[in-house]
Amino acid sequence: MTPPSTGLKVFSGTSHPSLAQEVCDQIGIPLGRASTKRFSNENLKIRIEENVREQDVFVVQTACPPLSEHIVELLIMLDALKHASAKRVTAVIPYFPYARSDKKDEPRISISARLMADLLATSGADRVLTMDLHSPQIQGFFSIPADQLTGVPALCDRLKHEDLTNTVIVAADVGEAKDAGRFAKRLELPLALIDKRRYGDDENAKPAHIIGDIAGKDCLLVDDEIATGGTLFNATDFLLERGARSVSAAVVHPVLSGKAAEKLKASRLKRLLVTNTLPIPAASLSSKIEVLSLAPQLATAIRHIHDGSSVSELFS
Ligand code: R5P
Repeated sequence: MTPPSTGLKVFSGTSHPSLAQEVCDQIGIPLGRASTKRFSNENLKIRIEENVREQDVFVVQTACPPLSEHIVELLIMLDALKHASAKRVTAVIPYFPYARSDKKDEPRISISARLMADLLATSGADRVLTMDLHSPQIQGFFSIPADQLTGVPALCDRLKHEDLTNTVIVAADVGEAKDAGRFAKRLELPLALIDKRRYGDDENAKPAHIIGDIAGKDCLLVDDEIATGGTLFNATDFLLERGARSVSAAVVHPVLSGKAAEKLKASRLKRLLVTNTLPIPAASLSSKIEVLSLAPQLATAIRHIHDGSSVSELFS
């Protein structure tokens, strides 16, 4: 990348420092210095350890465990930067917290994704940069500009190097149909859809029907996130029982909650391609997982935002 114009700084919360460092390396600037102290009453003190007056500042923090800690840390950092007279502060949140709580589908519940958006703006964020929101409408929750990047083109570029002659893209559920269509279009492959049923808060959703031709095919399941893994592992068995030759998956957000990593090792899923929007603990890695870095995409978007050039052109 060409050297950045002056006034651009990138800081990191404690959720994913290696991604923040990679973004800085791509841009060609050092990671901003900040320190965190935790008091005996669990209150946090975050101090920005360098001058940010009149600077264009980006803070990288993703929504991984301990989730509430990381959210509060980000909010305090934004506030500290605002009070340190940063000219503009952008919260860079590769995996957005509470993105699945985006509607009031039961009585007396919070639309928590909207609450997160409000908290970011209240804490001093002037903009948000995020990736593959669970539903794109969440962008409408923000009173400040929110740019949404997607990991789909990078995943497709990676997959293009493989022999895909017998492959069919399979959407893990109908909600994923649009993104699956993007994979199918970019890779020039046929598409199939799984009709997945989830009952209430049951995290173990079950595939009910398949729409499309998968018999004898190498299925590439696509989904926005893998949380407990229930969706992908059940879909794998479902597809193999219906005659698929093999099943692999490409997923943007590797949430890998609960026992997902162990279940992956034991599952019949041949391979899982994910991105690094969340850190994956070493113990959860296995020969079945390949992690693709989205630091180049984030760095480019940060440069575009800083220079005032189009971010949407990055998708073309
Ligand atoms: C659901 O609507 C999403 O697209 C994913 O399929 C879901 O979040 C994956 O969760 P899990 O891995 O727990 O089945």
